Amino acid sequence: MRFGGATIVDDVSFTVPAGLFVSIIGPNGAGKTSLFNLLSGLYSPSAGSVWLRGDDITGMPPFARVRHGLGRSFQLTTVFTGLSTLENTRLAAQASHPGNYAFWRGAGHNRAARERAAWALETVGLAGKERVVAGSLSHGDKRKLDLAILLCSEPEVLLLDEPTAGVSAEEVPVMLEVIRRIRQVEGKTVLMVEHKMDVVHDLSDRVAVLANGALVAYDTPAAVMADPFVRSAYLGVT
Ligand SMILES: Nc1ncnc2c1ncn2[C@@H]1O[C@H](COP(=O)(O)OP(=O)(O)O)[C@@H](O)[C@H]1O
Ligand SMILES: [Mg+2]
Repeated sequence: MRFGGATIVDDVSFTVPAGLFVSIIGPNGAGKTSLFNLLSGLYSPSAGSVWLRGDDITGMPPFARVRHGLGRSFQLTTVFTGLSTLENTRLAAQASHPGNYAFWRGAGHNRAARERAAWALETVGLAGKERVVAGSLSHGDKRKLDLAILLCSEPEVLLLDEPTAGVSAEEVPVMLEVIRRIRQVEGKTVLMVEHKMDVVHDLSDRVAVLANGALVAYDTPAAVMADPFVRSAYLGVT
């Protein structure tokens, strides 16, 4: 991916087998979010291709990728602050798979979307807060709502960009438990950008290390943490 004279994602080639949990680490500005933008279709690569579930999706717009099973959360929350948590999730369910839901009957009668929304809220630990207006949620609960909205698009592959960023210390374990559940119970494929190394070590099957846009390591957490180059260049361990 080139912008002007700069190559911000540089020849990054890797495959994520279905059902695996992959963390992406690297210093600020390494290209992690840009990589997600390439995967989700917000950026169009200067060269190279993106494949999802056996198909070349390089030319596919973002909404079509969502319907093809790709879901992403954003570092910034994307909720409608004036709507309740249930309304936010129900809209997400309807928007992602309009064909699944008889939208012409009106949102109030849309049982399938409503059930999906209630299930998503329950999954992230927001059961009981269905009627709470999103804007009045705590920051941690907003991040949970982001995840619930993501789940409503019924993704097979989830891109999570720093899901615990800005979440209070007490809320981080709750958030991680939610992510662990999505992975273990739901069996989803997850790519997660995360800075907290204990979290990365705990959750990941594989760790990808980006530095200056390049993929410098892609291996099991133990192998990556033991890699002398990674230890000196990124982890700051000598
Ligand atoms: N749309 C863009 N135009 C120009 N430069 C960009 C654009 N998006 C990202 N970059 C640059 O790419 C580099 C990587 O950014 P980013 O992917 O956000 O890094 P990370 O998420 O690893 O912190 C940064 O130097 C950033 O300024
Ligand atoms: Mg980033």
